[in-house]
Amino acid sequence: MEQTLSIIKPDGVANSHIGDIIKQFESSGLKIVAMKMIHLSKKEARGFYSVHKARPFFDSLTDFMSSGPAIAIVLEGEDAIARNRELMGATDPKDAAGGTIRSNFATDKEKNAVHGSDASETAVLEIAYFFSKLEIVG
Ligand code: CMP
Repeated sequence: MEQTLSIIKPDGVANSHIGDIIKQFESSGLKIVAMKMIHLSKKEARGFYSVHKARPFFDSLTDFMSSGPAIAIVLEGEDAIARNRELMGATDPKDAAGGTIRSNFATDKEKNAVHGSDASETAVLEIAYFFSKLEIVG
C-alpha cells in the first residue's frame, strides 16, 4: 500500500469541482484516508513549492495557490502515486488524455485543478506538510 498527497487547487474549488474530482479518485479505487480544506498563505505556498523556487512561474504559482481555499487529500492504494498521476493527466490540460481530471476540469498549466506527489520521497514530505500521523486513518 502506498500513500500520495493530492490537492484540489483553488480553481477546482472555485469552479465547484470538488465532488467531481473526488468521484474520479473513488471510482479509480483509490481510498481517501485524510482530507481537509486549507487556505494557504503566500508563505505556506512558497514552502510547499520550494523545489520550484528558481522557476520563472514560482511567484505566479504561489500567488495562485494562496488565492483561495483548496482541499488537501491523502490517497491510499497500490501504486497510488503513479495511479493518481495517470488519473490527473499531463500538467498542461492541452496535453492531458481525455477523461483525466485535468482534461475534464483544468484551465491551463497553472490553473490545472489538482496537484499530485511525483515520487515516494516527495509524497512523504508533502503529506507531512499538511497532516499529522493522527489525522490519517488506517
Ligand atoms: P503541480 O503538479 O502542482 O506542480 C508544480 C506546478 O507548477 C504544476 O502543477 C503547474 O501548476 C505549475 N507549472 C508547471 N509549469 C508551469 C508553467 N510553465 N507555467 C505556469 N505554471 C506551471
